[in-house]
Amino acid sequence: MASTTRTAALLLLLLLLQQSSVFSWKKEEFRNCNQTPFCKRARSRKPGSSNLVVTDVSINDGDLTAKLQPKNAGEAKEEQDEVVKPLILKLSAYQDGILRLKIDEDPSLDPPKKRFEVPDVVLPLFDEKKLWLQRVSTEVLDGDSAPSSIVYLSEAYEGVVRHDPFEVYVRKKGGDRVLSLNSHGLFDFEQLRKKKEDEDWEERFRSHTDTRPYGPQSISFDVSFYGANFVYGIPEHATSLALKATRGPGVEFSEPYRLFNLDVFEYLHDSPFGIYGSIPYMLSHGKAHGTSGFFWLNAAEMQIDVLGTGWDSESGIVLPSSQGRIDTLWMSEAGIVDAFFFVGPGPKDVMRQYASVTGTLAMQQFFATGYHQCRWNYRDEEDVEQVDSKFDEFDIPYDVIWLDIEHTDGKRYLTWDRAAFPHPEEMQNKLAAKGRHMVTIADPHIKRDESFYLHKEATQKGFYVKDATGKDFDGWCWPGASSYPDTLNPEIRSWWAEKFSFKNYVGSTPILYIWNDMNEPSVFNGPELTMPRDALHYGGVEHRELHNAYGYYFHMATSDGLLKRADGKDRPFVLSRSFFAGSQRNGAVWTGDNTADWDQFRVSVPMVLTLSLTGISFSGADVGGFFGNPEPELLVRWYQLGAYYPFFRGHAHHDTKRREPWLFGERNTELIREAIHIRYTLLPYFYTLFRQANTSGIPVVRPLWMEFPEDEATFNNDEAFMVGNSLLVQGIYTENAKHASVYLPGGQSWYDLRTGITYKGGVTHNLEVSEESIPAFQKAGTIIPRKDRSRRSSTQMVNDPYTLVIALNGSLAAEGELYVDDGKSFSFEQGAYMHRRFVFSDGKLTSSNIAPPASGKALFTSECVIERIIILGLSGAKSALVESANYRVDIESGPLNLRGRGSSAVLTIRKPNVRIKDDWTIKIL
Ligand code: GLC
Repeated sequence: MASTTRTAALLLLLLLLQQSSVFSWKKEEFRNCNQTPFCKRARSRKPGSSNLVVTDVSINDGDLTAKLQPKNAGEAKEEQDEVVKPLILKLSAYQDGILRLKIDEDPSLDPPKKRFEVPDVVLPLFDEKKLWLQRVSTEVLDGDSAPSSIVYLSEAYEGVVRHDPFEVYVRKKGGDRVLSLNSHGLFDFEQLRKKKEDEDWEERFRSHTDTRPYGPQSISFDVSFYGANFVYGIPEHATSLALKATRGPGVEFSEPYRLFNLDVFEYLHDSPFGIYGSIPYMLSHGKAHGTSGFFWLNAAEMQIDVLGTGWDSESGIVLPSSQGRIDTLWMSEAGIVDAFFFVGPGPKDVMRQYASVTGTLAMQQFFATGYHQCRWNYRDEEDVEQVDSKFDEFDIPYDVIWLDIEHTDGKRYLTWDRAAFPHPEEMQNKLAAKGRHMVTIADPHIKRDESFYLHKEATQKGFYVKDATGKDFDGWCWPGASSYPDTLNPEIRSWWAEKFSFKNYVGSTPILYIWNDMNEPSVFNGPELTMPRDALHYGGVEHRELHNAYGYYFHMATSDGLLKRADGKDRPFVLSRSFFAGSQRNGAVWTGDNTADWDQFRVSVPMVLTLSLTGISFSGADVGGFFGNPEPELLVRWYQLGAYYPFFRGHAHHDTKRREPWLFGERNTELIREAIHIRYTLLPYFYTLFRQANTSGIPVVRPLWMEFPEDEATFNNDEAFMVGNSLLVQGIYTENAKHASVYLPGGQSWYDLRTGITYKGGVTHNLEVSEESIPAFQKAGTIIPRKDRSRRSSTQMVNDPYTLVIALNGSLAAEGELYVDDGKSFSFEQGAYMHRRFVFSDGKLTSSNIAPPASGKALFTSECVIERIIILGLSGAKSALVESANYRVDIESGPLNLRGRGSSAVLTIRKPNVRIKDDWTIKIL
């Protein structure tokens, strides 16, 4: 009886939850800054209130160390005054212009608890980049009354600790500031202390009480970016690329940007509200300085204000003009100050600097760069087979079919609903035969069911996150009552990882990969739909201290699982909804539950670009929109744009109508096929860019300003983006569009991808558009490798010949690269890959090797040839000479576009048949 009531209650709850998805965002379910005491306190502080000074500066173990204490610390106090203990400050310099600042309580003064420092985010190798400081120079600078301590950072930059008032900044040697912390004196650090008798530390929100056993422990400070026109970063928010001011007269957003990982039903398309992931990393870009970056490694709830002009007027204190700089206020509920300053000065320098701290994108398997077909849910084996065969029937390539939560036995992950999926291995083998893959979902909430092996084991071993009383935390999610593995603990991560072995995950085969969802973590009956902040993790860490990194550790454990399963031989693929700084090392991320409307479609671009800027190079939005039914026109436009997202997946909610590409009539099927086909032709280029992201941290897709840092017109453009350095793409974000204004940056020209027609750079073009395609251009001076033959999946393209597209600049020159490896294993790490450089100049195309000599025995080779070379911007030539082999090949003049609207200055070298592995030269005669 009791269990019937429980089941009925569960069903009702689930029904209500699903119902709520048809309404839009529920503001009242989430706290705003005023309802968040630490945020409210920090926002009400006045400039200059910090009152801290630096003392006891010295050099220890190659770092500058000092104490930070109130100015009047030595003076007599009223008896009831709490003695404020000095904080410990440590400043370290690293190669390439990175300054790290740590501020924490002094462990020798017995704080009630060690404050949480986020482990396993900073790369172990980063330490090797430390510059051992030998000396500090002490000088009184810029009319200050007290001295500053100055340390060497690089040839061009130095780090400065100003003693009174306290400030830390980076400046050009002896010159202008680049980045500073506490220039407005808003720094505040709430030290842990004993509770006073009359104090109430509990915080209540709706029906939830946070016991806050350690009381207030927040930290806040201002950070200023100099020589900056705009600031960017701090995902995840659905809003513009260039961040908007959140304080000051007439601002559009009155709430700060919130970083707090939450599962938000129907998020708005323009809001500073925090959604699934958090990266406390902001970049600035401007004419005067270039690019700089500021990263605060802290996983507690954070709120960040971008202070607009005149923000200081609300405090009654008017500060010196902030012309040419952007001020921001950073507030976190807990943790320590562990901040990194990146000096740039180029956008790509900042990308490399940030990557040297948090790592680069894990190299992906080739298949993962293709198209993914997902839906909540593909019902059963027959459904999977049907969908799979329709792709063949309609001649549309795809690589991966996905199974959502319903494929499991009652939402017990890593099991199968055997009625719907009686033969999972057979099903996967059929896909494997076509070179395709499968992804299944595995969420962190484990069903509390005594007969479920995962639950039994986790309970017995004590592997769950605990509630504030020390019992296993019990919350509601898809399966009903659930508990959550504490993947902060490395032992629990390796336990979880083991579950992916072929033996443990019954019914899985080597073509099966994983999707982690709901890992914010989502808890339907928790405060703000997540875990209570006073829940307890490994080492006594409170959930509030690591909340924003929970999903990161879970993603890491799953990715480790796939690695272990393959004995470290194959590269994992794991998609995650939640993320933190460093998640690029674990795999891909998508932008969660968007909606099938034009605004959400439009905002997917700044969302993906912001992720790219903050290290997450492999991301995308659900093509078509998760909630609701897209009009065919929107769906087509979304495919046309989504084909250029780094991660390209169609997905939909179970209440929506089926929307596989062939369901909208012949013409729309043709348009979607064409969009997906374009992605497949570009896979060699994409894969080369994935490798670049893997080696250097420079993302696959980029805001225009990353490629054109001097061109001010690009700084806040988030309608268009670059794929690598060669392609510019702009979506069509309105219905029935006949024209689009497209700004083409730089001093060189651009070639329309379809027609080969040239357009001038530095100009906004008003272009005619049709349903056939979205504006896409190749930059003059670049070479793009393609594979044009249409296949069922990327795997089947491996031996196909290449096409090179050479887009000549004004000096009739161009260059590009191609990276190829086995697409699967780690042998590229031993040098088993090809990396070629193509250069066209003086009427000659040369191919040369740019891979360093392989260090191990592993070698990679390929017999692939180049079957076609298209040269844009040249006319007249009739033949070419393949020099080394000394044979002639024909050149046809030909429009690119088969519909005959192409430019006349296009030539095609037919069948040069040179191998990509060889060095060669082809001379135009
Ligand atoms: C969440 C995910 C969505 C998924 C659904 C069911 O809403 O964001 O992609 O389909 O859960 O698992």
